[in-house]
Amino acid sequence: MTIQTASRLGNVKEYYFSKKLREIDSLNKEGKNIINLGIGSPDLPPSPEVIKVLQDASALPNVHGYQGYKGIPEFRNAIANWYQKWYSVTVNADTEVLPLMGSKEGIMHICMTYLEKGDKVLVPNPGYPTYSSNINLTGAEILPYNLSDKNDWQPDFEAIEKEDLSNVKLMFVNYPQMPTGKNGSIELFEKLVAFAKKHSILLIHDNPYSFILNDHPISLLSIPGALDVAIELNSLSKSHNMAGWRLGMLIAHSDRINEILRFKSNMDSGMFKPLQLAAAKALELGKEWHEQVNEIYRSRRDKVYELLDLLDCTYSKDQVGMFMWAKIPSTYNNGIELADDVLYKANVFITPGSIFGSEGDKYIRISLCGDIQRFEDAIHRIESSTIINQMK
Ligand SMILES: Cc1ncc(COP(=O)(O)O)c(C=O)c1O
Repeated sequence: MTIQTASRLGNVKEYYFSKKLREIDSLNKEGKNIINLGIGSPDLPPSPEVIKVLQDASALPNVHGYQGYKGIPEFRNAIANWYQKWYSVTVNADTEVLPLMGSKEGIMHICMTYLEKGDKVLVPNPGYPTYSSNINLTGAEILPYNLSDKNDWQPDFEAIEKEDLSNVKLMFVNYPQMPTGKNGSIELFEKLVAFAKKHSILLIHDNPYSFILNDHPISLLSIPGALDVAIELNSLSKSHNMAGWRLGMLIAHSDRINEILRFKSNMDSGMFKPLQLAAAKALELGKEWHEQVNEIYRSRRDKVYELLDLLDCTYSKDQVGMFMWAKIPSTYNNGIELADDVLYKANVFITPGSIFGSEGDKYIRISLCGDIQRFEDAIHRIESSTIINQMK
């Protein structure tokens, strides 16, 4: 049977990784055993205490029914306490917190709640591709704003203000930034809030990486008055190694929460109660938890430095988050060329920067997810491949 897909899918292509993973799959079937350094799915387990809560709670008879659309109070309270403890942000657990099945889900809810044809949205280039694909589904227009090394990967507000901003409704921002690894700062967040106020734009700050390789997590909502113009998305995927559990949150003014619920409550129902109880436990974890996770990421990052040096790439050591972003050597035209060379000659997959936007064309991104041995093996494969001779 053939059936016409809805025209809203017109501009939405298959996610790059889904296509590339198929290619990697077929290379693996040929016996290539590709080392995948592309995808950012945390390989470390959550805390055993968290798993125990899930196990114990699942065994109870009265936790298997539908849950409320706004999550259970235990999870919402844990989120509010977590925001207070780590970000010094006070939020009302009942009216300003909305549990989500991951922050990716929240991006869709926000787009569906606020956007339609005729609206414009500021989107970082390079940035997380889901912002653009979800905006495309609504018929709104994407207005990319460039992040570059020259601007230290921060928005150039003067350049943005030269555009016609009259129909701009939302602006996506994300610090620590993926893929560039640029950390946020109070100064930058103050500028963003002032910009949003000046132009009546709703800021969507996506903050899933603030605990990874970062000693001082900050929230955009710590800027006075931010809740009037901003929504923050957050997630347990990376901070607590729970990506597959699908646990995230949206913090916003109560009016925004109610608006978003008008869409979300028609799309899904509350999460499994034991998952929410386990998430509440995870959010209580202390500094030691984050320290030991970051210790492991640090040792992997050292290996990635070695690998990038071998490839003659240049990079900043100030990056935070779960990836390393690096500029390719001038011997390659773009990141795709380098990534394909490494894939076909050394059986190692790394991500070309252009999948995050045109400004990423001369860059590659390497994920820190994976056992240290995998990084050592990848280095060994690259060292013994023809790529190295080519570089000499
Ligand atoms: C910038 C950014 N935002 C959001 C997400 C989605 O995370 P979650 O697992 O919370 O849906 C990712 C995941 O890769 C990401 O890189």
